[in-house]
Amino acid sequence: MPSPDRQPLTRRQWLGRIAAGGVTLALGSYAYAWRIEPHWVEVTHRTMPLANLPPALAGKRLVQISDLHVGPVVDNAYLRGVLRRLTDLEPDYLVITGDLMSCFHRETIDLAVETLRDSPVVNLPTFAVLGNHDYSENFHNLHVADELTDKVRDLGVTLLRNESTVIDGLQIAGCDDRWARRTDLNATFARVDHTRPTICLAHNPDIADLPDWSTFGGWILSGHTHGGQCRFPIIGAPVLPIKNKAYARGHVSLNGGRNLYVNRGLGYTRRIRFGVRPEVTVFTLTPV
Ligand SMILES: [Fe+2]
Repeated sequence: MPSPDRQPLTRRQWLGRIAAGGVTLALGSYAYAWRIEPHWVEVTHRTMPLANLPPALAGKRLVQISDLHVGPVVDNAYLRGVLRRLTDLEPDYLVITGDLMSCFHRETIDLAVETLRDSPVVNLPTFAVLGNHDYSENFHNLHVADELTDKVRDLGVTLLRNESTVIDGLQIAGCDDRWARRTDLNATFARVDHTRPTICLAHNPDIADLPDWSTFGGWILSGHTHGGQCRFPIIGAPVLPIKNKAYARGHVSLNGGRNLYVNRGLGYTRRIRFGVRPEVTVFTLTPV
């Protein structure tokens, strides 16, 4: 029962309280999206079924990280902390699906290399591909991409540019970047036996819609989208830098028995995330 000496709120007072609540909610949401979610990493676990998997590979853990964007925007201490904690996940293999850095010319190459050097990345079998930002501003600076490639390879990371390799019977192919116009799937698969288990690293998931996949029936691991960085109820993610909007994040079953996984990335191009936490993905290899 309301106290008899309390006056009911006027319409103006009600509107004032609603406005104050709205402002508080908006400021709280902005603070969360700016200060908390960009560094609130989610570790996602899922199985990776692969046909003809050698028995020795069953149960092995492959950890995917993506889109570090080392540079002036992403807090480097945050990135180093995430990389340091990767060993807690007991990975057997590590893959990095592009956008190691953000830069205008070549100014963040050394910081990107130092960030990787001071992490478990150099002590694990690590495989990587380049993303559009690794080609510097406008995504077409081949000299920057080549210098980054050389220095990352010097760390012991197997950085694949339209080529493949084999570890413990697992084939790992790596496409060069789509927006940099360097993708060549035929070259990427030139030495791949499609009857054996294969993982293809490709920064931009739109690559899955190219016509050149032949009889590839393995997994494509991508990044690039950051999941949209901000995702809202009803409208979803307003900004998605891909043609096929089905490839925003997570797992997608594709034709030909292929599977695509789009990691939401660790970094950001602007420090804001909402409803799309940064991600480390842990895949457990399983026979089909
Ligand atoms: Fe990115």
